[in-house]
Amino acid sequence: MELELPAREPDAAQQPKKVFVKTYGCQMNVYDSQRMADALAADGYVSTHTVEDADLVLLNTCHIREKAAEKVYSELGRIRQLKAERAAAGRETLVGIAGCVAQAEGGEILRRAPVVDLVIGPQSYHRLPDHIRRVRGGDKVVETEYAIEDKFEKLPALRKAAVRARGVTAFLTVQEGCDKFCTFCVVPYTRGSEVSRPVHQIVAEAERLAEAGVREVTLLGQNVNAWHGEGPDGVEWGLGRLLFRLAEIPGIARLRYTTSHPRDMDDALIAAHRDLPALMPYLHLPIQSGSDRILKAMNRRHKADDYLRLIERIRAARPDMAMSGDFIVGFPGETDADFEDTLRIVREVGYAQAFSFKYSQRPGTPAADHELQVADVVKDERLQRLQSLLTSQLNAFNTSVVGRSCPVLIEKPGRKPGQIVGRSPWLQPVILDESAGRIGDIVDTRISHVSGNSLFGQAA
Ligand code: SAH
Ligand code: SF4
Ligand code: F3S
Repeated sequence: MELELPAREPDAAQQPKKVFVKTYGCQMNVYDSQRMADALAADGYVSTHTVEDADLVLLNTCHIREKAAEKVYSELGRIRQLKAERAAAGRETLVGIAGCVAQAEGGEILRRAPVVDLVIGPQSYHRLPDHIRRVRGGDKVVETEYAIEDKFEKLPALRKAAVRARGVTAFLTVQEGCDKFCTFCVVPYTRGSEVSRPVHQIVAEAERLAEAGVREVTLLGQNVNAWHGEGPDGVEWGLGRLLFRLAEIPGIARLRYTTSHPRDMDDALIAAHRDLPALMPYLHLPIQSGSDRILKAMNRRHKADDYLRLIERIRAARPDMAMSGDFIVGFPGETDADFEDTLRIVREVGYAQAFSFKYSQRPGTPAADHELQVADVVKDERLQRLQSLLTSQLNAFNTSVVGRSCPVLIEKPGRKPGQIVGRSPWLQPVILDESAGRIGDIVDTRISHVSGNSLFGQAA
């Protein structure tokens, strides 16, 4: 009689290792996650969307508000259980924390969540593969130094196959960090001081994106309009000049940039909005509050009126500019009158889109220790009033394009069969019949109606 041998599991050592990356926070984290996945791919890791399959779980975290930071710890609770289940099945799971919580809390994370093997701050991502190797050897690693070398220079180039898989729009970080020190904000502490990537690196990366089929590039920076660098002509370029250069790249049809600070909006950038057709008429320009008293306490270093005058100049250059912004309600000391000033500025500007938040006390920031903290119920009530105004503006903006024609960049299949989804120049999702064009096409579209937050249109 033959012995019945148990069916052999494929040898785990022969299987490629899998990495699951979860991204929280802003677009810069989205970009960083892609770069980390690409760097790990060069080391043999394939990406998975299923956390249960992952040999390495990487959380790319956000520290901007308390809720964002706390999400990480609740996720780590689930991962602890998963790690135990996988261990029982003889499979190892490594857990890494990247991003702004990693930078802010460092080794404290290991104390609070022993399931974590690696803590790595945003300035050290080029060292990720090395650190993973150490962790696989049994070490725990915490790396939150601001590296002297340029991480972008050291990271492997974007993988074209990965870019293709991500679609026809892409992010490209051109500037990182912040020297503005708004009194509520952790970013200067988690991302370090303002650094601009050099022109040649940005152009090379944009060319690579274009070769992989990308049609629209969004340049990223915490203060993207503070970007500057020496051009090949030996002259100092600002963001406006850089945008003109990127628009020359064959295949790149659309450019955007985010997030801008009102103080760094220079004439050349405003002129680019007038003269560069590839530059889309949508601008995210946060003001945070409409009250000069609060703006001063926030260390924004401009007044509400400066902001309004700036928008006048921008709209003179590009009359169809859609404005977007961020607002904080309940900053320490904010009175009803201050809040009314915020509502007033919102009414004056008329936003196409905006994000609003309740002030959150962040450890280590000056405003956190302020005596006059605003009660949560007051913040709730203000947030609700502000959001209902902003929602009505969003709806009014969407309705205002009905009956008009505009170019739509087709991005992906729609949720319903037979539909495709693209974006208007003003960043609105537009749903079309799939016969209108293929992904990557820019289709002249007549907008017929609005439903929810989506516009519907037909090829004109
Ligand atoms: N560099 C950008 C903002 C980056 S943070 C700028 O200067 O506008 C994104 C947004 O988060 C901010 O614009 C602000 O509205 C919000 N934010 C930052 N810190 C916050 C805090 N402590 N509480 C509530 N919202 C905050
Ligand atoms: Fe934060 Fe202010 Fe810097 Fe924006 S400009 S990242 S809000 S400190
Ligand atoms: Fe959050 Fe860091 Fe971005 S704190 S918003 S992930 S820069």
